Amino acid sequence: MSDLQLETPRLRLRLMQSSDLDDLLRIFGDPKVMASFGGATFNREQMERWMHRNIEHQNLHGYGLFSVILQSEGLLIGDCGLEHMKVEEDQASELGYDFRSDYWNQDFATEAATAVRDYAFNVLHLPRLISLIRVGNAASKRVSEKIGMRFVAEITRNGISYWKYAIDGISNKHFIERPNGIRISN
Ligand SMILES: CC(C)(COP(=O)(O)OP(=O)(O)OC[C@H]1O[C@@H](n2cnc3c(N)ncnc32)[C@H](O)[C@@H]1OP(=O)(O)O)[C@@H](O)C(=O)NCCC(=O)NCCS
Repeated sequence: MSDLQLETPRLRLRLMQSSDLDDLLRIFGDPKVMASFGGATFNREQMERWMHRNIEHQNLHGYGLFSVILQSEGLLIGDCGLEHMKVEEDQASELGYDFRSDYWNQDFATEAATAVRDYAFNVLHLPRLISLIRVGNAASKRVSEKIGMRFVAEITRNGISYWKYAIDGISNKHFIERPNGIRISN
Protein backbone atom coordinates (compact mmCIF):
# COMPACT_ATOMS: atom_id res chain seq x y z
CA MET A 1 0.00 0.00 0.00
CA SER A 2 1.23 3.51 -0.81
CA ASP A 3 2.27 5.58 2.20
CA LEU A 4 1.14 8.84 0.61
CA GLN A 5 0.54 11.48 3.24
CA LEU A 6 0.12 15.21 3.55
CA GLU A 7 1.53 17.04 6.55
CA THR A 8 0.39 20.39 7.89
CA PRO A 9 1.63 22.17 11.01
CA ARG A 10 -0.78 20.25 13.29
CA LEU A 11 -2.16 17.43 11.17
CA ARG A 12 -1.15 14.38 9.18
CA LEU A 13 -3.48 13.25 6.40
CA ARG A 14 -2.85 9.62 5.53
CA LEU A 15 -4.66 7.01 3.44
CA MET A 16 -7.65 5.47 5.18
CA GLN A 17 -7.18 1.91 6.41
CA SER A 18 -9.49 -0.82 7.78
CA SER A 19 -8.15 -0.35 11.32
CA ASP A 20 -9.63 3.21 11.34
CA LEU A 21 -13.12 1.77 11.82
CA ASP A 22 -13.57 2.50 15.54
CA ASP A 23 -12.16 6.02 15.25
CA LEU A 24 -14.42 6.80 12.28
CA LEU A 25 -17.40 5.43 14.18
CA ARG A 26 -16.58 7.96 16.92
CA ILE A 27 -17.35 10.63 14.26
CA PHE A 28 -20.18 9.08 12.24
CA GLY A 29 -21.85 7.64 15.34
CA ASP A 30 -22.16 11.13 16.83
CA PRO A 31 -25.63 12.74 16.48
CA LYS A 32 -24.03 16.23 16.41
CA VAL A 33 -22.03 15.30 13.30
CA MET A 34 -24.86 13.44 11.60
CA ALA A 35 -27.29 16.32 12.15
CA SER A 36 -25.48 17.97 9.23
CA PHE A 37 -26.59 15.13 7.00
CA GLY A 38 -30.15 15.14 8.30
CA GLY A 39 -29.79 11.47 9.11
CA ALA A 40 -29.34 8.87 11.80
CA THR A 41 -25.98 7.89 13.19
CA PHE A 42 -24.06 5.03 11.57
CA ASN A 43 -23.85 1.62 13.17
CA ARG A 44 -20.73 -0.50 12.81
CA GLU A 45 -21.92 -2.24 9.64
CA GLN A 46 -22.81 1.05 7.88
CA MET A 47 -19.46 2.51 8.94
CA GLU A 48 -17.65 -0.51 7.53
CA ARG A 49 -19.47 -0.19 4.18
CA TRP A 50 -18.75 3.57 4.00
CA MET A 51 -15.08 3.03 4.79
CA HIS A 52 -14.62 0.24 2.25
CA ARG A 53 -16.38 2.29 -0.43
CA ASN A 54 -13.86 5.05 0.21
CA ILE A 55 -10.90 2.63 0.06
CA GLU A 56 -12.25 1.22 -3.25
CA HIS A 57 -12.72 4.78 -4.57
CA GLN A 58 -9.11 5.53 -3.63
CA ASN A 59 -7.90 2.45 -5.54
CA LEU A 60 -10.04 3.28 -8.60
CA HIS A 61 -9.41 7.02 -8.93
CA GLY A 62 -6.05 7.39 -7.16
CA TYR A 63 -7.55 9.74 -4.60
CA GLY A 64 -10.17 9.65 -1.89
CA LEU A 65 -10.81 10.77 1.65
CA PHE A 66 -7.77 10.78 3.93
CA SER A 67 -7.90 9.99 7.63
CA VAL A 68 -6.83 13.10 9.53
CA ILE A 69 -4.52 12.55 12.47
CA LEU A 70 -3.86 15.18 15.12
CA GLN A 71 -0.09 14.94 15.37
CA SER A 72 0.23 16.03 19.01
CA GLU A 73 -2.06 13.23 20.22
CA GLY A 74 -1.63 10.64 17.45
CA LEU A 75 -5.43 10.63 17.30
CA LEU A 76 -7.76 10.32 14.29
CA ILE A 77 -10.03 13.37 14.53
CA GLY A 78 -11.53 13.57 11.06
CA ASP A 79 -11.60 12.72 7.41
CA CYS A 80 -10.88 15.07 4.55
CA GLY A 81 -10.32 14.52 0.87
CA LEU A 82 -11.76 14.13 -2.57
CA GLU A 83 -14.59 12.22 -4.14
CA HIS A 84 -15.20 11.84 -7.85
CA MET A 85 -18.88 12.33 -8.63
CA LYS A 86 -21.37 13.29 -11.30
CA VAL A 87 -23.07 16.62 -10.57
CA GLU A 88 -25.60 18.04 -13.01
CA GLU A 89 -24.24 16.00 -15.95
CA ASP A 90 -20.64 17.03 -15.22
CA GLN A 91 -17.87 14.91 -13.74
CA ALA A 92 -16.57 16.68 -10.65
CA SER A 93 -14.05 16.28 -7.83
CA GLU A 94 -15.68 17.13 -4.54
CA LEU A 95 -13.69 18.27 -1.53
CA GLY A 96 -15.27 17.07 1.70
CA TYR A 97 -14.54 16.82 5.44
CA ASP A 98 -16.05 15.57 8.70
CA PHE A 99 -14.53 16.10 12.13
CA ARG A 100 -15.06 14.90 15.71
CA SER A 101 -17.41 17.34 17.38
CA ASP A 102 -15.11 17.75 20.41
CA TYR A 103 -12.47 19.19 18.04
CA TRP A 104 -14.71 21.64 16.14
CA ASN A 105 -13.93 25.35 15.75
CA GLN A 106 -10.17 25.05 16.11
CA ASP A 107 -9.49 25.55 12.40
CA PHE A 108 -8.71 21.84 11.89
CA ALA A 109 -11.11 21.33 8.93
CA THR A 110 -9.72 24.46 7.27
CA GLU A 111 -6.12 23.31 7.80
CA ALA A 112 -6.86 19.85 6.36
CA ALA A 113 -8.95 21.18 3.45
CA THR A 114 -6.20 23.66 2.53
CA ALA A 115 -3.72 20.78 2.27
CA VAL A 116 -6.13 18.75 0.12
CA ARG A 117 -6.86 21.76 -2.11
CA ASP A 118 -3.15 22.30 -2.74
CA TYR A 119 -2.56 18.57 -3.29
CA ALA A 120 -5.44 18.46 -5.81
CA PHE A 121 -4.09 21.38 -7.84
CA ASN A 122 -0.32 21.00 -7.45
CA VAL A 123 0.07 17.22 -7.59
CA LEU A 124 -3.08 15.75 -9.15
CA HIS A 125 -3.46 18.77 -11.49
CA LEU A 126 -7.25 18.70 -11.20
CA PRO A 127 -8.73 21.72 -13.00
CA ARG A 128 -11.49 22.48 -10.49
CA LEU A 129 -12.80 21.46 -7.08
CA ILE A 130 -16.35 21.75 -5.86
CA SER A 131 -18.01 21.29 -2.49
CA LEU A 132 -21.64 20.36 -2.05
CA ILE A 133 -22.89 21.70 1.26
CA ARG A 134 -26.38 21.01 2.55
CA VAL A 135 -28.29 24.27 2.69
CA GLY A 136 -28.00 25.60 6.23
CA ASN A 137 -24.64 24.00 7.12
CA ALA A 138 -23.00 27.28 8.14
CA ALA A 139 -19.79 25.76 9.54
CA SER A 140 -19.05 23.85 6.34
CA LYS A 141 -19.90 26.90 4.20
CA ARG A 142 -17.42 28.92 6.26
CA VAL A 143 -14.66 26.33 5.72
CA SER A 144 -15.26 26.53 1.95
CA GLU A 145 -14.99 30.30 2.06
CA LYS A 146 -11.83 30.20 4.19
CA ILE A 147 -10.06 28.01 1.61
CA GLY A 148 -10.97 30.38 -1.21
CA MET A 149 -14.03 28.71 -2.68
CA ARG A 150 -16.86 30.79 -4.11
CA PHE A 151 -20.61 30.19 -4.06
CA VAL A 152 -21.83 29.01 -7.48
CA ALA A 153 -25.49 28.06 -7.13
CA GLU A 154 -28.05 26.30 -5.05
CA ILE A 155 -28.70 22.90 -6.61
CA THR A 156 -30.84 19.84 -5.91
CA ARG A 157 -29.26 16.41 -5.99
CA ASN A 158 -31.14 13.22 -5.12
CA GLY A 159 -33.92 15.39 -3.71
CA ILE A 160 -31.62 17.32 -1.33
CA SER A 161 -30.78 21.05 -1.63
CA TYR A 162 -27.11 22.00 -1.61
CA TRP A 163 -25.01 25.13 -1.84
CA LYS A 164 -22.48 24.43 -4.57
CA TYR A 165 -19.08 26.04 -3.95
CA ALA A 166 -16.13 25.87 -6.34
CA ILE A 167 -12.53 26.91 -6.89
CA ASP A 168 -10.52 26.70 -10.13
CA GLY A 169 -6.89 25.65 -10.33
CA ILE A 170 -6.01 28.76 -12.29
CA SER A 171 -7.67 31.17 -9.86
CA ASN A 172 -5.80 29.28 -7.18
CA LYS A 173 -2.44 30.25 -8.71
CA HIS A 174 -1.27 32.28 -5.74
CA PHE A 175 -1.76 29.25 -3.48
CA ILE A 176 0.29 27.16 -5.90
CA GLU A 177 3.16 29.61 -5.70
CA ARG A 178 2.94 29.76 -1.91
CA PRO A 179 1.66 26.34 -0.88
CA ASN A 180 1.37 27.04 2.87
CA GLY A 181 4.35 24.96 3.93
CA ILE A 182 2.47 21.69 3.43
CA ARG A 183 4.68 18.66 2.96
CA ILE A 184 3.65 15.79 0.70
CA SER A 185 5.41 12.46 0.94
CA ASN A 186 4.87 9.35 -1.14
C1 LIG B 1 -18.00 21.29 8.98
C2 LIG B 1 -16.91 20.86 9.95
C3 LIG B 1 -16.04 19.81 9.27
C4 LIG B 1 -16.04 22.07 10.31
O1 LIG B 1 -14.96 21.62 11.10
P1 LIG B 1 -14.12 22.62 12.04
O2 LIG B 1 -12.80 21.96 12.30
O3 LIG B 1 -14.93 23.04 13.17
O4 LIG B 1 -13.93 23.85 11.03
P2 LIG B 1 -13.01 25.14 11.25
O5 LIG B 1 -12.72 25.30 12.71
O6 LIG B 1 -11.87 25.04 10.31
O7 LIG B 1 -13.96 26.31 10.74
C5 LIG B 1 -15.29 26.40 11.17
C6 LIG B 1 -15.80 27.79 10.90
O8 LIG B 1 -17.23 27.77 10.94
C7 LIG B 1 -17.68 28.72 11.89
N1 LIG B 1 -18.92 28.19 12.45
C8 LIG B 1 -19.08 27.10 13.21
N2 LIG B 1 -20.37 26.92 13.52
C9 LIG B 1 -21.04 27.93 12.92
C10 LIG B 1 -22.41 28.31 12.87
N3 LIG B 1 -23.35 27.59 13.45
N4 LIG B 1 -22.72 29.41 12.16
C11 LIG B 1 -21.80 30.16 11.53
N5 LIG B 1 -20.47 29.84 11.55
C12 LIG B 1 -20.11 28.74 12.24
C13 LIG B 1 -16.55 28.82 12.88
O9 LIG B 1 -16.65 30.00 13.65
C14 LIG B 1 -15.37 28.80 11.93
O10 LIG B 1 -15.23 30.03 11.24
P3 LIG B 1 -14.16 31.18 11.69
O11 LIG B 1 -12.80 30.54 11.66
O12 LIG B 1 -14.35 32.25 10.70
O13 LIG B 1 -14.55 31.56 13.11
C15 LIG B 1 -17.50 20.28 11.25
O14 LIG B 1 -18.42 21.19 11.78
C16 LIG B 1 -18.22 18.95 11.03
O15 LIG B 1 -17.57 17.88 11.03
N6 LIG B 1 -19.53 19.00 10.85
C17 LIG B 1 -20.33 17.77 10.63
C18 LIG B 1 -20.04 17.13 9.30
C19 LIG B 1 -20.16 18.10 8.15
O16 LIG B 1 -20.99 19.00 8.15
N7 LIG B 1 -19.31 17.88 7.12
C20 LIG B 1 -19.33 18.73 5.95
C21 LIG B 1 -20.31 18.22 4.97
S1 LIG B 1 -20.45 19.34 3.58
